Amino acid sequence: MPERTIYLDHAATTPLDARVLDRMMPYLTSEYGNASSIYTIGRHAMQAIDRSREQVAETLHCRPSEIAFVGCGSESDNLAIKGMAFASQKKGNHIITSSIEHHAVLHTCQYLDRFGFQTTYLPVDEYGMVDPDAVARAITDQTILVSVMYANNEVGTIEPIAEIGRICRARKIPFHVDAVQAGGALPLDVAELKVDLLSLSAHKFNGPKGMGILYTRQGMRILPQLQGGSQERGRRAGTEDVASIVGAAEALRLAYEELPTAAPRIALLRDRLIEGILEIPRTRLTGHPTQRLVNNASFAFEGVEGESILLNLDMLGIAASTGSACTSGSVEPSHVLIALGLSSDWSHGSLRLTLGKKNTQEDIDYVLSVLPGIVEKLRGLGI
Ligand SMILES: Cc1ncc(COP(=O)(O)O)c(C=O)c1O
Repeated sequence: MPERTIYLDHAATTPLDARVLDRMMPYLTSEYGNASSIYTIGRHAMQAIDRSREQVAETLHCRPSEIAFVGCGSESDNLAIKGMAFASQKKGNHIITSSIEHHAVLHTCQYLDRFGFQTTYLPVDEYGMVDPDAVARAITDQTILVSVMYANNEVGTIEPIAEIGRICRARKIPFHVDAVQAGGALPLDVAELKVDLLSLSAHKFNGPKGMGILYTRQGMRILPQLQGGSQERGRRAGTEDVASIVGAAEALRLAYEELPTAAPRIALLRDRLIEGILEIPRTRLTGHPTQRLVNNASFAFEGVEGESILLNLDMLGIAASTGSACTSGSVEPSHVLIALGLSSDWSHGSLRLTLGKKNTQEDIDYVLSVLPGIVEKLRGLGI
């Protein structure tokens, strides 16, 4: 067993970059002023937030005023969807999304049912792709929002966002993109993508946990979902978490600065991992073979329980994830694997390995040296 954890769950969260922590430290210690206060340390806090907003806007190719800092990726999704829905009630009540969205989107749409909204959940193909033509066909005169994720958190499939964006723009339908898994990995030029609302979460790109970002295109009206002070131009009440805002902006900047060198290296490791794991009998790759996040290697093994694989990997120091979760005593495959059309023999045996900057070839070799034996053993035991 290796001395350190081999961390292969970067889609769940990532470690905080030491350089990001350095930038945050003053705002966790000496620079503790409330950004709304007019004395010197308050102004310092506001200046730090303003600089961070400009930094994020540079990456997204938008105006700083279009960026709001919120409490997490889930809050960003909630604010975009509920905010747009409640602001558009007079125009219509129809929302379009995909069946493989994160629960932050799906549960928000379900919640809106209670207020008279109706949601169309578009199916995906066997690779998890949303068909832009299906989006176009689903639009009615009642449609007030389309929400499709940039990249899927379980299987890593990258959706045709720019194409869907073109369709929505032509039909004048606001388009929200959950880019939580794409942040730090895929281009975020909101003008090119033709998105109107875009959600990010800092802990997915080596920033702090509990910090989300929402881009709202100028002219889009959303109703705030937290009432109180007028922080974030009235879009989100609450005293700003200056340290985390500074950390999120620095983490995003570093992620895109380092992407050209990090991405090919991570892709190479991922491809070795995929090649090695597909040698295990009765194994298949889940998600798109090419249109997938560079760090995502996800699989289904026939006739095994994903949770059993995880526990065995954990005992050997490897942190990974599965799309099957134990709910009320029985193991259920995720809505994503079901939407991909996997039969239950396969969907119960899913494994997601997501790489990060610190992973090495030795990590991959180690996984490949232990995983085939684990799968074989579990198949033998029938679990
Ligand atoms: C696609 C996607 N959307 C939203 C979220 C929620 O982000 P947060 O954990 O910051 O609330 C996640 C987190 O896993 C995600 O993967």
